[in-house]
Amino acid sequence: MINGKTNGHQVPVFHYSWQLEQGSTVGIALHAATRRLKGSDIDTPKLDSELLLGHVLRWTRAQLYTHMERPLSDDEREAFEHLVERRLNYEPVAYLVGEKAFYGLDLFVDHRVLIPRPETELLVDLALDIIMQADRLAASATNGNGRNAGHREPSVSVADVGTGSGAVTLAIAANTRAAIVCGIDISADALAVARANAQRHHLTDRVQFLQGDLLEPLDRQVDVVVANLPYVAQHEWSALAPDIAQYEPSLALSGGADGLGLIRRLVEQAPGKLRPGGMMLMEIGATQGAEVAALARQVFPDAFVEIVTDYAYNDRIVRVQT
Ligand SMILES: C[S@@+](CC[C@H](N)C(=O)[O-])C[C@H]1O[C@@H](n2cnc3c(N)ncnc32)[C@H](O)[C@@H]1O
Repeated sequence: MINGKTNGHQVPVFHYSWQLEQGSTVGIALHAATRRLKGSDIDTPKLDSELLLGHVLRWTRAQLYTHMERPLSDDEREAFEHLVERRLNYEPVAYLVGEKAFYGLDLFVDHRVLIPRPETELLVDLALDIIMQADRLAASATNGNGRNAGHREPSVSVADVGTGSGAVTLAIAANTRAAIVCGIDISADALAVARANAQRHHLTDRVQFLQGDLLEPLDRQVDVVVANLPYVAQHEWSALAPDIAQYEPSLALSGGADGLGLIRRLVEQAPGKLRPGGMMLMEIGATQGAEVAALARQVFPDAFVEIVTDYAYNDRIVRVQT
């Protein structure tokens, strides 16, 4: 074991070597990899083994199950061994296979971006609700009866602050034509991934990406601000799983001393960039609800502010209706 230093944090790094016998079948390879990963306390050893071998063979998991007796070629075996070794060193599966599904979209991901989390899909649900509502109002104002909505220009402008892989920006754009979405990130590397994902899903004409600090790059006010900004506090670093601490960009995780450095600045910037009557949705850590809600009430004294819990009943989003 050596001490690895990544993202400014000391994390243990183990170097494993793992090999299969020549001519191993799909079934044997999966069984052996699952046992090995389990022995290293990987949470989902069977699933990870299947995803990694599926990636090597370009097969679905169903194809693996129906071809258990198929021998691996030397190239396939070596490629699988290499991926399992990297997983034994806690490299996330999403980085190993180069993609992650989010809100029904397969997104490219690599070490330049945070791996989108399922919890963040709630942010998209809430954003889509408000966009649809606002669009219905705009439709009835334009047409009286709301018909022909499909032929109108997008009526709702959205800024997704800290877009990373583009997950939230693209999930919104893919699910409604009512919004024009601008994804902002301070990281040029992250924006390169977001742009590649926009191209992959043919959404380049419905989204825009800007580089800069929080809402600063916006030259206009928007109707909706969504943000999943970094919110890990300094004291929480030592408890982070090595998959996260060692591999995901610290720029996408670290929220400063108390975790709220960026969220605080975003709320303070918002009055200049959020249209009166607009909505702000911020993903937060499970212990941060009360503090972020209090901050929002201070900056927007007339707003309706509430904390929304996720499906595990953790505080997850602060919603501010100005
Ligand atoms: C927690 S990640 C979220 C990524 C993506 N929205 C998601 O949900 O998967 C936070 C993102 O905020 C970006 N970021 C960090 N500081 C920023 C700042 N001052 N202004 C804009 N973006 C920032 C990071 O580069 C990172 O991509």
